[in-house]
Amino acid sequence: MKILVTGAAGLVGSHVARRLAREHEVQALKHGELDITDRAAVRRCLLHEKPALIFNCAVLQVDDSEQQPAQAQAVNVAGPGFLAETASEVGAEIVHFSTQYAFDGEPVGRLPYTIHNEPRPVNNYGRTKVAGEAAVLAACARSYIVRTSWVYGSGKNSFLCTVHNDLKAGKRVRAIDDIWSSTTSVDDLIERVMTIRATGRYGIYHVVNGGICSYYGFALEAGRSLGLTRGQIDPLIEIIHERDMKRLAARPRYTPLRCLLSERLGLPPMRDWRAALAEYVGTG
Ligand SMILES: NC(=O)c1ccc[n+]([C@@H]2O[C@H](COP(=O)([O-])OP(=O)(O)OC[C@H]3O[C@@H](n4cnc5c(N)ncnc54)[C@H](OP(=O)(O)O)[C@@H]3O)[C@@H](O)[C@H]2O)c1
Repeated sequence: MKILVTGAAGLVGSHVARRLAREHEVQALKHGELDITDRAAVRRCLLHEKPALIFNCAVLQVDDSEQQPAQAQAVNVAGPGFLAETASEVGAEIVHFSTQYAFDGEPVGRLPYTIHNEPRPVNNYGRTKVAGEAAVLAACARSYIVRTSWVYGSGKNSFLCTVHNDLKAGKRVRAIDDIWSSTTSVDDLIERVMTIRATGRYGIYHVVNGGICSYYGFALEAGRSLGLTRGQIDPLIEIIHERDMKRLAARPRYTPLRCLLSERLGLPPMRDWRAALAEYVGTG
């Protein structure tokens, strides 16, 4: 199958491109190669390539979306719409990633969010991502919207991606203990998305590993997976609080996800986050 990946230098995009190239003809386009906010360029590219499946992995991140609202609208809403409308024209399916930031994260301790929960974003990233979902759904009937959360994998310099290496090297890390969510191994995310895609059941999915943790809980578990004791881990982790962080964009506090459509399709639950993290820590 011919698959086109946008935002292919990012965390999800680079892994999607690498993983799917084992079995498919993949065209991985970085930002410099296809700017999804350029409608004419999107049309030219898709009409020429005629992919069977598009993965939109391009995004403007959380604080940037707060600071640059026009760019957030362009990358997170208009661009996905251009991809979806042209997908429709060339008969392609589209996988568009979205986020747990669709939700407000209150109250702490609530049941995991399902597709029946009304989105209520607390920042501009979340608002534009929710609008982007709607733009894709409106423009292409053959679309999969995949909301995911706290994704980690090799190659990105983010807390979730690198905390195990810092602990292994004996470096001190700072970990937030007052926001919680589902976490997602990028490998598990891709496998599940391809399983979903094989069902041909279009719609909105929540794809995450099982269970809930805070960044602090994630760091502790990464340390345990490395074989470190609490006596070794505790001096390496400085606990900090989201409420003390001076961030541009507010973060929702408690956003675990649950996938009703996967359950309806009879797909097995995604493995627990600790098992996925242990495998990741073991491989790098
Ligand atoms: N990572 C997570 O924890 C997480 C959680 C929930 C949902 N998601 C979703 O997963 C998807 C992928 O996220 P990610 O973590 O892989 O993001 P990422 O690592 O920040 O990668 C995003 C990529 O998009 C590119 N990009 C930005 N503007 C673009 C444009 N106009 N045209 C084409 N490419 C553009 C960026 O390139 P430049 O840097 O060169 O601009 C970057 O390579 C997003 O939809 C995101 O909402 C991610």
